[in-house]
Amino acid sequence: MKVRSLGYIGFGAPDPKQWLDYGVNIIGAMPARAYPGEDWGMPMDPTSGPASAGSGVAPDGSVYLKLDERQWRIGIHPSEDNAGIMYMGFEMACYQDLEEAVKELKEGGVPARMGTAEEARNRSVTGIAISEDPAGNPLEFFYGPTKDYKFVSPYNVEFQTGSLGLGHVNLFVKDLKACEDFYTWVLGFKLSDYIKFGPDLSANFYHCNPRHHTLGLTHVGPVNGIHHMMLEMKNIDQVAQCLERVEAAGIKVTSTLGRHTNDNMLSFYMSSPFGFEVEIGCEGLLVDESWLPSEFCEGDVWGHKGLDPETITESAQQIKQKD
Ligand SMILES: [Fe+2]
Repeated sequence: MKVRSLGYIGFGAPDPKQWLDYGVNIIGAMPARAYPGEDWGMPMDPTSGPASAGSGVAPDGSVYLKLDERQWRIGIHPSEDNAGIMYMGFEMACYQDLEEAVKELKEGGVPARMGTAEEARNRSVTGIAISEDPAGNPLEFFYGPTKDYKFVSPYNVEFQTGSLGLGHVNLFVKDLKACEDFYTWVLGFKLSDYIKFGPDLSANFYHCNPRHHTLGLTHVGPVNGIHHMMLEMKNIDQVAQCLERVEAAGIKVTSTLGRHTNDNMLSFYMSSPFGFEVEIGCEGLLVDESWLPSEFCEGDVWGHKGLDPETITESAQQIKQKD
């Protein structure tokens, strides 16, 4: 089974519009010009267009953010509390790969099914399959996303996406072995490297394309959840300008600017309205087929003050308390 990239992601939040403001005015994303499933109007007719008129808000209160030429990349849906990940959408090449994926998942004892035309339309894709990972994260596999080239960032941010996908996510997982087996043996991810930070505590990183990691699996006890999502910008100027917006808005910087040892990412981390952290970085390492995994004895070349085993464990425990 060959996953090409993390194409889109969806979260639950009590107030998605708070995320719209954060996504646009802090991160520099653009509200989607049409929400998934919405009628685009007639091409070339300047008098017709999506009824949501570029607000990024769907009638059910969901918010959709655009980072590039895809119609949308991040969906935020109304939920009673910060529900965390509601779905991760992994891109595949074609319909045949989707069917093959469903077959392989079922053979591996994983619940999986082909999605309906309506479910595909609700994500702006041509075809979709539905499953979940061993940590209970809902997964979707898709091909044929809708493209909308009219991306304009309000702060001139150029997100490093395309075939690399939207960025990466770092998940807390209760059963590391089950999740690692699932993402590698079944989904085809490969281990990039890992860091141990205590007995039975480790951060493990996996790639499915040249981005050093699309997925991080962190085990710090019996907790399933998300630690952070990373979005990559084109250069240090865009990252530093984002940091200025974060500081001006009084948003908590949870980890100062620093450079990771493994993926070379120059980044900072901040709190987000979702209850998990968002990492904004640049200069992430690209790997190829010759890449071999290794163990790192430390996480950072410099900086990243606030990102340490103690605070990561604290974040995990907060999720645990919510459960
Ligand atoms: Fe990260």
